Amino acid sequence: MIGGRILFGGDYNPEQWPEEVWPDDVRLMKQAGVNSVTLGVFSWAKLEPRPGAREFGWLDRLMDLMHENGIGVVLATPTASPPPWMGKLHPETLPIDEDGRTVWWGSRQQFSHSSVVYRQYAAAITEDLAARYGSHPALTMWHINNEYCTHDWGEEAARAFRTWLRARYMSTDALNEAWGTAFWSQRYDSWDEIIPPRRAQYLKNPTQVLDFKRFTSAALMECYLAERDIVVRHTPRIPVTTNFMPLWTGQDAWQWSRHEDIVSVDIYPDPKDPLAGQYNAMIGDMTRSQARGPWMLMEQAAGPVNFRGVNHPKPRGLNRLLSLQSVAHGADAVCYFQWRQSRQGAEKFHSGMVSHAGEHGRTYQEIKQLGAELALLAPEVGGTQVSSQVAILHDWESWWADQQDGRPSTGVEYPEIVRAWHRALWEAKIPAGFAHPEHDLDSYALVLIPHLYLLTDSAIDALVAYVRDGGTVVCGFHTGVADRDDRIRDGGMDARLRELFGIRTIHEWWPLDAGETVDCGAFRGLLWSEEIEASETAETLAGYKGGELDGLPAVLRKGRARYLSTLPEPDALRAIISGVARDAGVRPSLENLPEAVEAVHRGDLLFLLNHSRETVTFDIPGDRRHDLLTGTEVSGRVELERYGVRVLRS
Ligand code: GAL
Repeated sequence: MIGGRILFGGDYNPEQWPEEVWPDDVRLMKQAGVNSVTLGVFSWAKLEPRPGAREFGWLDRLMDLMHENGIGVVLATPTASPPPWMGKLHPETLPIDEDGRTVWWGSRQQFSHSSVVYRQYAAAITEDLAARYGSHPALTMWHINNEYCTHDWGEEAARAFRTWLRARYMSTDALNEAWGTAFWSQRYDSWDEIIPPRRAQYLKNPTQVLDFKRFTSAALMECYLAERDIVVRHTPRIPVTTNFMPLWTGQDAWQWSRHEDIVSVDIYPDPKDPLAGQYNAMIGDMTRSQARGPWMLMEQAAGPVNFRGVNHPKPRGLNRLLSLQSVAHGADAVCYFQWRQSRQGAEKFHSGMVSHAGEHGRTYQEIKQLGAELALLAPEVGGTQVSSQVAILHDWESWWADQQDGRPSTGVEYPEIVRAWHRALWEAKIPAGFAHPEHDLDSYALVLIPHLYLLTDSAIDALVAYVRDGGTVVCGFHTGVADRDDRIRDGGMDARLRELFGIRTIHEWWPLDAGETVDCGAFRGLLWSEEIEASETAETLAGYKGGELDGLPAVLRKGRARYLSTLPEPDALRAIISGVARDAGVRPSLENLPEAVEAVHRGDLLFLLNHSRETVTFDIPGDRRHDLLTGTEVSGRVELERYGVRVLRS
């Protein structure tokens, strides 16, 4: 929220259009209530057509044009897409893939995070942008780069990797110990022998791979911080962000978000997915938790995207629903990729706020309605918070360690498991937050651990203390198995955790085949099962029926700690989690809602969202409430049309 407005707008790429189109853009923006545009995301070649040259005239005119029309500018550093001349002149700026092949120009993001030359050029253009526009009245925010996601296995990256490893381990002995290089004769005698985990004959060293992922996230963050420091030096009061991809493996967003003034994310739910609303809610909850407050929806699509096999448009009303849902989950900005749909280039089939159908097209008409509604909501939403008594623990390091070759089952997809657990809360209408396993968990009544294969000693100690001090935990399978170096702990799970859940030993993991399920009595388990020997202190809440594990515990309880050794099918997981939540004193946002309706409290506001194509009618308790979107009073009975939304103030 800047200047009391919910930011509404998107990536604006006017350099793709003749200047005669710009006044029409402004007319349509104003008509739709657009108050923010992101300029310059991929404009490097236009700003610096030759090494060291500067062409700012077009951007000067745009900045002025936006300001004259009351539209704020989120100004991007263009460093996500270096101009072709850079690769030609300095091939070392180009990333090298795992197989030693160059990643060429002709698309975007062809930069090596470790290239000194790339970083110098990036710093120089950032410096000049900040100097030129730092005091421009249109400037509201800095947007550094775009969706940092590159990898590099080349020589310069190898040198940087070694430097990173030296700082982490100090000696090759310590590295050898951490990486377990006694296995397969991998012992390193000197730092120079160490390389990124390039194409190899067979399975790679898992800790080397894990460290390379840690390093890559850190190297990209260095690029971000270098540019951020430059803009902050010029404009200490202008907030800085960089846009995350949602639940994206390449970046430890817990680390990164600490260095952002505004945490922003790009969310592209599949309109065909019946649980698109749950996905949108999950990413909103995760981003809000990273931001520890309001966050920015930097990009979404007004219609179809172009990166799926089949790209479905958004049915009428869905864009509005998902946008208002993001506001309900704490977003103070609702923005898009992109303003005007391109006619050329790789994303010409990706929607824009103004589609190829133009001003009279359905997409723009719906955008216009949304803009007016966001303006109505802004004064009420400002300064309000969304809270949750439940935290889902999520950790990139565990994900990186877990999702490698050579593990018990490649059918276990970490993001899908996180999603299944969030879905259980969402369908139970219980507000969710996310936390890192080493965060302070005291403010939560309930902590859920969908699946954290790697847990550090300090995270385990904190969890044990949390339960000892009155907290409730539900933990999913194959958790607490490895330490921070991806070294397997004895007994199938860390001893402190086994004590916590009443497990003596986990004898074997029994992963399931695709589509296979396991009978757990009251429900069926998916993906995984475990051969557990429980201790006398544990109570068996569900047991395996039939097969090798017949009679062994599937779900264990010891005091306020529960362990699920399989992934219960969705209804069962929801029932388990909502039962535990009830016992822990956690209530749904609203009782007795129809299945398709989500209720979210943001401050004093109650958002009611109908995620189905059918009209639904239901009762809400309490006094008359004011509906901010229609200006009417509501009490008792509420009717929500397909994809309908009410925002009620008590
Ligand atoms: C994002 C990216 C945008 C655009 C968009 C298309 O990942 O930041 O530039 O490519 O996807 O969905």
